[in-house]
Amino acid sequence: VNAEISLRPSERKQISDMLIGAFFEDISYAADGGLYAELVQNRDFEYKPSEKKGKDKNWNHTTAWVLEGDNASFRIDSLNPIHPNNKYYAVLDVKQLGKGLVNEGFDGIALKAGEKYNFSAFAKAIDSKSNTLTVRLTDKNGRNLAETKINNIGTAWKKYNATLMTKETVADAKIAVVPQKAGKVGLDMISLFPQNTFNGRKNGLRKDLAQTIADLHPKFMRFPGGCVAHGDGIENIYRWKNTIGPLEGRVPMRNLWGYHQSMGLGYYEYFQFCEDIGAEPVPVLAAGVPCQNSSTGGHGQQGGIPMADMDEYVQDVLDLIEWANGDKNTTWGKKRIEAGHPEPFNLKYVGIGNEDLITDIFEERFTMIFNAVKEKHPEITVIGTVGPFYMGTDYDEGWALARKLQVPMVDEHYYQSPGWFINNQDFYDRYDRAGTKVYLGEYAAFVDDRRMNIESALSEALYLSAIERNGDVVSMTSFAPLLAKEHHTSWNPDLIYFNNTEVKPTVDYYVQKLYSLNSGDTYVPAKVELTEKQENVQKRIGVSVVQDTRSKDLIVKLVNLLPVDVNSALDLSAFNMAGKEATLTVLQGKPTDENVMPKESTVQVSEKLKYQLPAYSFSVIRIKTK
Ligand code: AHR
Repeated sequence: VNAEISLRPSERKQISDMLIGAFFEDISYAADGGLYAELVQNRDFEYKPSEKKGKDKNWNHTTAWVLEGDNASFRIDSLNPIHPNNKYYAVLDVKQLGKGLVNEGFDGIALKAGEKYNFSAFAKAIDSKSNTLTVRLTDKNGRNLAETKINNIGTAWKKYNATLMTKETVADAKIAVVPQKAGKVGLDMISLFPQNTFNGRKNGLRKDLAQTIADLHPKFMRFPGGCVAHGDGIENIYRWKNTIGPLEGRVPMRNLWGYHQSMGLGYYEYFQFCEDIGAEPVPVLAAGVPCQNSSTGGHGQQGGIPMADMDEYVQDVLDLIEWANGDKNTTWGKKRIEAGHPEPFNLKYVGIGNEDLITDIFEERFTMIFNAVKEKHPEITVIGTVGPFYMGTDYDEGWALARKLQVPMVDEHYYQSPGWFINNQDFYDRYDRAGTKVYLGEYAAFVDDRRMNIESALSEALYLSAIERNGDVVSMTSFAPLLAKEHHTSWNPDLIYFNNTEVKPTVDYYVQKLYSLNSGDTYVPAKVELTEKQENVQKRIGVSVVQDTRSKDLIVKLVNLLPVDVNSALDLSAFNMAGKEATLTVLQGKPTDENVMPKESTVQVSEKLKYQLPAYSFSVIRIKTK
């Protein structure tokens, strides 16, 4: 197959420079046991059994903890807790010295030789004046790896800190807290963090995972979901105020994906991470209704926050904006400053709702929130929701509501087959260019429970070339979900898989990264003439040319989803770039390949650049003008 590609610079248009972002949802252990660097599981003894289906069905306050040793007992108490939001704590009653309370971590605790770990815990001596604790890191067989002592534990709750270091790298260690005196000791918020977190943040993020996200250079990050944002019942709606402030005062909650949210990774940490990686924060808040307007979690059962409580809920949304952007003279701005962030976070976007059913219940509540934000904070872009495209009429009703209220942007979702992405590249060509913009907040070439491979990745690369063409109506996109821990996946496919010691970006990750690193703000239309005229062939070739105003680089993206090479000739005469050097990055493989990485080389540019697109490949040619 041959392809003649000619550019039409006179028809260039401005497009969004925020097209590629990250969608963070606490799904598949993305937060606790994942990005959040805490190594102790159920540190707060707040795990509870869930009435709904999930891993947490049989969990209780002692999950992940065992008592080792003779003549000792361990119970959970709630009398005089360290904080009313953190009701439960452990009481360890030791009659014979030796062993103590042991935590298994999240699938074990991964330790690295020579690295330092910060231990902290709230403790109190209960039936003696004082006690001493030994904190020990052991391998899974109980062999000592590191040890430290905490002396003078008094009779009132107090936070104690210590540092430990091991000489060995161990993937599945445990932590033990062992009293050195007979008697009762109260323990809560038993925590172990690597000192080496991303950007060295306290209460920080796992470095390798955070770095993998940072390397995507997402222009924005959406959080905390997905369905987690609106929960599966009113009581399960994610409340941002419950996730800020001292860790012991945060309100932990059941995660609708079947586990527990400690809220240690809360709004402060999300905003800080966004700032650290140069991404605009995009918090998504429930529109006053939980998932599918379910009042008690059952799908089909309609409900929302009672109207009597809606003023308070609307105020929570306004308070978030004040917390993020307000100065020291504002109630919520002051709280952010006290938490350690004097400068505003410069919040610009707030998502309201997540693929909700567009019912009267939804409309009433969404409208209240939307109008309140518009009136008090016209500087904020509110992102509405139009329901998942594939679930039928909600999509049209969502759009009708957005047009009626003149919502500046809406969040569309679709998980579709690779074939759908190949066949629907014109999806946004027919969208109205004026008015409401699109945030494609969740999408993936989805084949049920299958990991991504070259076929799905290239179908998305093809679709993204059409998104760039429509970058005047589509402002942002984010592949979903972002993270999934192996053996804890609630959803497949995901962009990045991981376990305690490894991070495994998928082939799609590289498509996202190539688009993100090679984004532009100007789209240059191209005419593509193929020697093969069949529609089936034509739509398996994608061409997108953008220019980046800052670097002035011209970037050509070429997707070939055909089983044969394509000989292309790219006419660059209008750009006077002959003799310049270009970087060529190619991602290529067999359709079923899952583990492929892009390869980079350099090419010399001529007026008519000849390039052979390998079969099943995505190529990016970046022509440097400087
Ligand atoms: O991305 C996984 C889930 O898919 C999200 O939580 C939800 O919004 C969508 O249905």
